[in-house]
Amino acid sequence: MSQHLLLPLAILAISPIPGAFQDSALSPTQKEPEDLDCGRPEPSARIMGGSDSQPGTWPWQVSLHQGGGHICGGSLIAPSWVLSAAHCFVTNGTLEPAAEWSVVLGVHSQDGPLDGAHVRAVAAILVPDNYSGVESGADVALLRLASPARLGPTVRPVCLPRASHRFAHGTACWATGWGDVQEADPLPLPWVLQEVELRVLGEAACQCLYSRPGPFNLTFQLLPGMLCAGYPEGRRDTCQGDSGGPLVCKEGGRWFQAGITSFGFGCGRRNRPGVFTAVAPYEAWIREQVLGSEPGPAFPTQSPELQSGLPEPTDENCTIALPECGKAPRPGAWPWEAQVLVPGSRPCYGALVSESWVLAPASCFPGRISSDLPPRDLDNWRVMLPSRPRAERVARLVPHENASWDDASNLALLQLRAPVNLSVAPRPVCLPHPEHYFLPGSRCRLARWGHTEPVPGAGSLLEAELLGVWWCHCLYGRQGESVPPPGEPPLAICPAYQEEEEVAGRCWNYSHWSLLCREEGTWFLAGIRDLPSDCLRPRAFYPLQTHGPWISHVTRGAYLEDQLAWDWGPEGEETETQTCPPHTEHGACGLRPEPALTGGLWPWLAEVHVAGERVCTGILVAPGWVLAATHCILRLGSTTVPYIEVYLGRAGASPLPQSHQVSRLVISIRLPRHLGLRPPLALLELSSRVEPSPSALPICLHPGGTPLGASCWVLGWKDPQDRVPVAAAVSILTPRLCHCLYQGILPPGTLCVLYAEGQEDRCEVTSAPPLLCQTEEGSWVLVGMAIRGSRDLFAAIGPEETWISQTVGEAHFLHPSGFPHWLPEGGDLCPPDMARASGSPRAALFLLLLTLLIQG
Ligand SMILES: *[C@@H]1O[C@H](CO)[C@@H](O)[C@H](O)[C@H]1NC(C)=O
Ligand SMILES: *[C@@H]1O[C@H](CO)[C@@H](O)[C@H](O)[C@H]1NC(C)=O
Ligand SMILES: *[C@@H]1O[C@H](CO)[C@@H](O)[C@H](O)[C@H]1NC(C)=O
Ligand SMILES: *[C@@H]1O[C@H](CO)[C@@H](O)[C@H](O)[C@H]1NC(C)=O
Ligand SMILES: *[C@@H]1O[C@H](CO)[C@@H](O)[C@H](O)[C@H]1NC(C)=O
Ligand SMILES: *[C@@H]1O[C@H](CO)[C@@H](O)[C@H](O)[C@H]1NC(C)=O
Ligand SMILES: *[C@@H]1O[C@H](CO)[C@@H](O)[C@H](O)[C@H]1NC(C)=O
Repeated sequence: MSQHLLLPLAILAISPIPGAFQDSALSPTQKEPEDLDCGRPEPSARIMGGSDSQPGTWPWQVSLHQGGGHICGGSLIAPSWVLSAAHCFVTNGTLEPAAEWSVVLGVHSQDGPLDGAHVRAVAAILVPDNYSGVESGADVALLRLASPARLGPTVRPVCLPRASHRFAHGTACWATGWGDVQEADPLPLPWVLQEVELRVLGEAACQCLYSRPGPFNLTFQLLPGMLCAGYPEGRRDTCQGDSGGPLVCKEGGRWFQAGITSFGFGCGRRNRPGVFTAVAPYEAWIREQVLGSEPGPAFPTQSPELQSGLPEPTDENCTIALPECGKAPRPGAWPWEAQVLVPGSRPCYGALVSESWVLAPASCFPGRISSDLPPRDLDNWRVMLPSRPRAERVARLVPHENASWDDASNLALLQLRAPVNLSVAPRPVCLPHPEHYFLPGSRCRLARWGHTEPVPGAGSLLEAELLGVWWCHCLYGRQGESVPPPGEPPLAICPAYQEEEEVAGRCWNYSHWSLLCREEGTWFLAGIRDLPSDCLRPRAFYPLQTHGPWISHVTRGAYLEDQLAWDWGPEGEETETQTCPPHTEHGACGLRPEPALTGGLWPWLAEVHVAGERVCTGILVAPGWVLAATHCILRLGSTTVPYIEVYLGRAGASPLPQSHQVSRLVISIRLPRHLGLRPPLALLELSSRVEPSPSALPICLHPGGTPLGASCWVLGWKDPQDRVPVAAAVSILTPRLCHCLYQGILPPGTLCVLYAEGQEDRCEVTSAPPLLCQTEEGSWVLVGMAIRGSRDLFAAIGPEETWISQTVGEAHFLHPSGFPHWLPEGGDLCPPDMARASGSPRAALFLLLLTLLIQG
């Protein structure tokens, strides 16, 4: 991770040049000057944030080819010598053979026939002995050409600085190259040489920026021999493919090469100016390598008055650039909120992402996104932006290529006819880079998105906290895919709402939202969603970060901002579980990330407060239903339905509302029909559904027996007063053992358990604790509920499957596995008098097992 963004700026960027020719002979008319004239283009004519250069402006710029394509830049410093960067030629500590490389001189556009360009083979590549990698400096290389270049209007050497030459802080210089125009965004055809003006940053000023945590919270220590150029606010920079190219500054009518493009942390990022190899310190090394070559490079002396530049800020008072996007006066007053008005349809809400571009759902413009032609009525489209008196006109609509079939790509970009002046409002929202990791617990807000209907009185409900990636993925992710680790784009991004703010009777069916998340006071557009799945608030959003590259490719200037919050806490990225238990047909149930057996929440464990006088254990079996033991809920002889409240997401009996606590009233109690006997299980219907979250999630149900290979637990409270959840490990006995042990006294459908050593007393029994198991796949399943007064006997869920499924359509029954445990009809194989022969079930069981073994 630590080197993730430290990018040597070389990469294969451009394919072969047609029509380039190898010219090894010096033209007969060529006259070599005695004293090489340098750094003077004939008067005529990786770059991010730059523009096309004019032919002949930078006649020393060369393109270094390997395998027929452009790899790096370089500069002509003498007829037979080219200066470039070592990292272009050293892979894995080995210098590549010179024969693989060629130098293209006098080229402007690398597309089509190279008028006036010529190619030279490379005779030798020279790199300092102690070069070991870009981050340790000495990233410089000299190429000796097999034959001298043909000098002319488009091929001329640049001047080199002497060791004493100083390029002062603030000096305006130019970098040139055919590299990417943005991170991972190659220079488009016709591959015209790009130029960008960059300011030299003094060592202290640059180190000051690099000492502040940047992308991936990285800082960097600059070394002697490195030179920075760029701007604290970023946006203009060199990029991949520019490596080895020159940074030149004009002094006294001549251009001197101050630096060699070396590396950067991303391209054009805030507080991360480009790092160049300073050329001046290599005067002696260069002179040594070219010794005896005539004519050699020229090192004109610098006029003394040019040595001083702007006063340089120091580490104490340097100005670092703050994000220019994502600042809102208060949540809800979004200065990037754009309303797109298309004749004949309702307003469509989107977000301003740069001076000229608005992002909105493509579904706002149906019929206009499938065709390649611009919409015919585009002239009549308008965009309303905050604090702008007049509507903006629209120049272009660029739908996402997959918008018509992929909901996650339901996006379109609208270009405004004229850029707006950014200020407090309008101001663009920040967009995340693909590697952005929104921390669990981040504060988020919903914002209008697309054609949306207002939710009555929803103002205070728009706040949320972000769920962890594991929960989000396992609740809503696609089956079978592993949970993406931090640093890889998630498949979904999920807010968790403050449940206590729930207001009954509100329906979110026709409202559409985007999700904004805040880091260090700066708002990012984190997720988009077209529709909530039902009446509930939207719970899973498509992550916007996967679209960062498309948005920056189209807009060339949207505000992609670095992650600002890095407090991953002691848990950090390593401990997050990477897989989810399989989903059932009704969605996720029984999820609980490991390691969670101690502390932590049991998301399905409910406190059922009955008539204000006792508390029973309940288990959430569907978003609107809790299962409990009838004997705890309904007292014998009582005929009235008691007042019952249910709490989920609690971890102890604190009287204060706990965060993410969920509470509901019970509006009905359902009992199965049972002949004669009082049914052991009761279903409680909640006043409204709960939203699945780590504090309220249904458990899965097991239709029969013990799931094979499962580990099982009795889950309850140590005592009904404190209600801190505890789990006691148990094994479920086979039907035969169970029957024999409790011969004659068991109601049908009863499970017997044996506690692990020392676990018997962990849970009290008056609250009727449940028996549950974790399957081999990882899902938690409910198997039974305690029978009155017993620690060891449980009423199985299996026999009531039909009743439960009919009452609660969404109950998650797993497929049957294992063997049924409530069967034994004529249990005639028990050894007589063995059952209950001893005081403790453990001792009785031991005797019983012995007998059965002997008999068998
Ligand atoms: C670089 O070298 C290491 C070990 O010396 C080797 O494992 C690796 O495959 C090499 N990588 C390339 C791209 O050659
Ligand atoms: C390489 O050696 C030169 C000369 O000894 C020295 O000035 C320079 O700092 C060294 N660079 C690195 C990266 O070790
Ligand atoms: C602050 O920066 C200015 C240049 O902007 C410089 O002249 C001055 O010495 C610096 N002051 C301190 C206290 O570092
Ligand atoms: C569109 O979908 C295809 C296939 O899934 C994918 O390869 C491509 O990258 C998508 N386009 C964009 C701009 O995301
Ligand atoms: C935008 O702001 C600049 C200076 O900040 C000003 O010169 C220019 O006139 C403004 N443009 C508009 C259209 O308001
Ligand atoms: C909202 O959607 C749900 C499920 O699709 C539906 O049952 C309900 O009637 C809808 N409510 C309104 C107010 O449209
Ligand atoms: C981020 O970097 C700063 C400064 O280097 C450091 O103090 C902080 O602990 C880092 N945070 C994380 C989460 O790594």
